[in-house]
Amino acid sequence: MNPLNIVILAAGKGTRMYSDKPKVLHTLAGKPLVQHVLDCASALKPQQICVVYGHGGEAVPDAMRQYAARFVIQEPQLGTGHAVQQAMPHLADEGSTLVLYGDVPLIQHSTLHQMQQAGEGLVLLTVNLPNPAGYGRIVRDAQGDVQSIVEEKDATPEQREICEVNTGILLAPTKLLRGWLDGLQNNNSQGEYYLTDIVSMAVQQGVAVHAVQPSHEWEIHGINSKSQLMVLERTWQLVEASRLLIQGVTLTDAARLDVRGKLNCGRDVEIDVGCIFEGEVSLADKVRVGAYSVIRNSSIAANTVIEPYSHIDNSEVGADCHIGPYARLRPGSRLQEGVHIGNFVEIKNSEIASGSKANHLSYIGDSSVGSRVNIGAGTITCNYDGANKHRTIIEDDVFIGSDTQLVAPVTVGKGATIAAGTTVWKNAPAGELTMNDKNQSTRPGWKRAQKVKK
Ligand code: UD1
Ligand code: CA
Repeated sequence: MNPLNIVILAAGKGTRMYSDKPKVLHTLAGKPLVQHVLDCASALKPQQICVVYGHGGEAVPDAMRQYAARFVIQEPQLGTGHAVQQAMPHLADEGSTLVLYGDVPLIQHSTLHQMQQAGEGLVLLTVNLPNPAGYGRIVRDAQGDVQSIVEEKDATPEQREICEVNTGILLAPTKLLRGWLDGLQNNNSQGEYYLTDIVSMAVQQGVAVHAVQPSHEWEIHGINSKSQLMVLERTWQLVEASRLLIQGVTLTDAARLDVRGKLNCGRDVEIDVGCIFEGEVSLADKVRVGAYSVIRNSSIAANTVIEPYSHIDNSEVGADCHIGPYARLRPGSRLQEGVHIGNFVEIKNSEIASGSKANHLSYIGDSSVGSRVNIGAGTITCNYDGANKHRTIIEDDVFIGSDTQLVAPVTVGKGATIAAGTTVWKNAPAGELTMNDKNQSTRPGWKRAQKVKK
């Protein structure tokens, strides 16, 4: 394949978003619009990617620094042809140039690959729409050969009847493109330099013009408003949901699922309504995820059950675990197999070995918990002294009574028992019962205050 340049147009203001943020930084499936396009572009392994930006100062280049792309400002914005012109000084003449749009996020690799296979000359991506209003129309001659693109505002009533429209995405030999752009004029109804005018120039020079159609219509939808963004988000989520259903995942409702990243599922996985998956998440065989759970950058091993309203972030959960309802696993939680974490239990940066349980109302932070440990209700690791974090070590077979505070750094030895209500501020020896010396006393005859009836 000859060298490829990619120009991504992203200078538009996005007035109809009514936002201070540049349009292309608004997110779809948890990722900025322009980043979807950059990811797709990068997968084509081009020699150069050029992003043309305009509004919002340096916000767009700053947010996309991780890409090996060149950012070129277009100021003022005089039309799509003028926008591509800004990139041309940075592109070598060999090979071809693909024009993409920062606000058309869902263009797919397979469609761009089809364009690359279409043949020598200028390749347009077009689509037939039952309602073509607003788009440039593809004008063909009697033989069906593409002659030009006419913008709606410049079109005759007959041309407006044409349902084949310009998506804007095109692929052109770079050297020819440069010449065509140099020849653009702005004598049209909008006073802009139209990229679309290069089509009639190609035809006049006898350069072949091909039209390719995308595999799915949603690939070419652009975003101009929050309602279009919402509609395309739901469209994309249904695409994700049907991909999972085809693989055999049970979804209670495909319309109530959000995947903001990559979700890998084993066999017989079940996902109830309202769940959100962010970043890279893997659910192994027979995992069940309860309603309204949020799981981010985590892996859940086989047979584990996540009950409703659980939050799991940057954590690893072993096989046969039982999590939630209302459990919170914060970054660095690593649970081995058969662990039970119940309601209102928060775990952070801690390992919990097999068969251990913390079923109610606890905070376990910066801890190593052994196997078969029982952590009673209301147990708190006091891991923070106001300046530093300290570790708590709880060895195998420990029983921690309810309402215990473990003041780190501290170790509870193997098989120890901690009485309910103990503040453990020194290491507790293995195999022994440890408690604070608080004797229980009773005041005979003491009366509680009574409400006086008025
Ligand atoms: C353009 C096409 C039209 C096509 C439609 C598809 C032209 C002349 N017309 O029309 O045939 O059907 O897209 O949506 O190309 N942009 C810049 N700088 C500019 C102008 C635009 O970066 O100076 C960017 C915008 O951010 C946007 C894209 O180019 O991402 C399209 O611009 P827009 O003004 O929306 O083009 P349309 O008039 O809709
Ligand atoms: Ca315009």
